Formats: sequence, C-alpha cells, structure tokens
Amino acid sequence: MQAPNDIQWLTFYRKFREQTGIDFNLYKQNQLQRQILMLADQRRVEDFEALSRLVLDNRDEQVWFLDRLAINVTELFRNPELWRDLEKLVKNELVPQGRGIKAWSAGCSVGAEAYSLAAVFDKFSPGKFHKIHCTDIDSSALEQAKKGHFNRMEARIIPQEFDKYFVQTDDGAEVVPQLKNYLTFQKHNLLADPYGSNYDLIVCRNVLIYFVDEAKDQIFRRFYNALRPGGYLFIGSSERIFNNRDIGFECPKPYFYMKPCEEKVWQNAS
Ligand SMILES: C[S@@+](CC[C@H](N)C(=O)[O-])C[C@H]1O[C@@H](n2cnc3c(N)ncnc32)[C@H](O)[C@@H]1O
Repeated sequence: MQAPNDIQWLTFYRKFREQTGIDFNLYKQNQLQRQILMLADQRRVEDFEALSRLVLDNRDEQVWFLDRLAINVTELFRNPELWRDLEKLVKNELVPQGRGIKAWSAGCSVGAEAYSLAAVFDKFSPGKFHKIHCTDIDSSALEQAKKGHFNRMEARIIPQEFDKYFVQTDDGAEVVPQLKNYLTFQKHNLLADPYGSNYDLIVCRNVLIYFVDEAKDQIFRRFYNALRPGGYLFIGSSERIFNNRDIGFECPKPYFYMKPCEEKVWQNAS
C-alpha cells in the first residue's frame, strides 16, 4: 500500500477523533504512522482509503485496530531496582500516615504494574483498605488485567519476598485473590478524560513515550493537580520531567516526583 499524504492522514485523524475521542495528533507521528501502515498490511487493504473505511465504518475492526496500536508490553516489577526505591517510599512515607494508600496506575496495560503495587502495599501494610485505580485506553488489556494472569515473560522477575502473592502456573504466574481486592478498573484516555484527586501515589510508566511534548507537559500538570500535597508520581526508567520545577514538582530521586506541601494550582489543566 502506498504511504498516504499529510492531508489524508489529517482527514483520517479528524474522523477517528470524532468517532472515538482519541486524537492521534497528540501521538509521536513516525512511530504511530509506521504502526498504522503495518496494521494496514496485515489487513491486506489496497489503499489508505480502504483502511480508513474499514476502521471508521466497522466497530469490530476499530476495536481490533486500537488494541494493536496501544502497545501493551509490560511485566511485574519492571526495573526491579526502581521498585526497591518505591518500597522504601511506601514503607517510610506512605504507610506511616496510618490509613489505606490511594494510588492510580495510569496506563496499566494488563495489570502487571498495578498488582506489583498491591503486593508492595500489602507487604508493608497488610489488610489495610488500599485503593489502586487501574486505567488504560485499551479495554481488552483491562479485561485481561482483571484476571491477574501473567505469561512467562511478564512474570520473569518476581523478587523472592513477593513469592507469596503469585502462584506459579505452567505458562507464567497468577495473582492470589487477596491482591485483587485492592484494585478497580476503568477505561480512561489520559489525553481527554477527567482525572481523579487526592492520590498519595500516581504510577505512570512507559505510557507518555508515545506522546508529543506538549501533551506530556499537559499530563504532568494534571497529575500534579491530581496528587495530594506530599504525594508522589513514579515514571518510567527512560523518562524524565525536564521542567519539574516549573510545574511545581520536587525530584528527591530519579523517576520520583513529589508535590510539595506548599502547592501551586494549575488552571486549565484539571
Ligand atoms: C507499554 S504499556 C505500559 C504498561 C505499564 N505502565 C508498564 O510500564 O509496564 C503502555 C500502555 O499505555 C496505554 N495507553 C496508550 N495511550 C493511552 C492513553 N491516551 N490513555 C491511557 N492509556 C494509554 C496503552 O494501551 C498501553 O497499555
């Protein structure tokens, strides 16, 4: 299939946004367009007009297309050295406040990050009423997340002290039921939907890599507003917030950003 021109892309993006609320203009273009063309080849469509018709007119095809565009690669305790830093934060700063921890796993994919969080919370504060709000734009990833089953790749790093939370299976690992009680799931588009408030911890890792800088900046400001004063944002190991001071975040450790108790309020970014 021949690569479309700019006008064809923009027309496609506009129609797609009208139907789904998802604005492809906010995603990094090279990566996105390469993926869309690859999917077009898999569907053996002859030209871009045929692909547009297919995904705009057929709801099943649209779901298939979106499921594949959202890259769901994930694993339990991804970057274990950073999870050790998170454990210290949970133990020394979040648990001592004496109530259940309110967290958000934003762009949770099939749930590996959210169940890792649940295991850490339970280890340091067992049985408390912790709440982990798990969201993703991809509904089939969320359906998978509810099951709490992980394949061998996703379950390759389970630190020994967390063994009791995961039962080994023939093809990976399964979460014990007690962790599931902490989690709730919701389909949510970080670029368009409203955010919650008063979180102690927001974990958003390896999601914003797909977005252009303006979109990332907007999301970081909205995360800032969604945290309680003294709350933390934990991001991915290839990510950084260069203008953290401008937003109001302190960065006590790489990949961890804290909203100080003296807060700024961001208008137009709630
Ligand atoms: C690579 S996975 C990251 C999973 C997990 N956070 C981790 O680090 O292991 C990226 C996830 O971001 C989700 N995503 C992409 N665009 C999104 C958007 N606009 N709003 C919410 N989630 C989005 C994808 O569906 C995918 O599940």
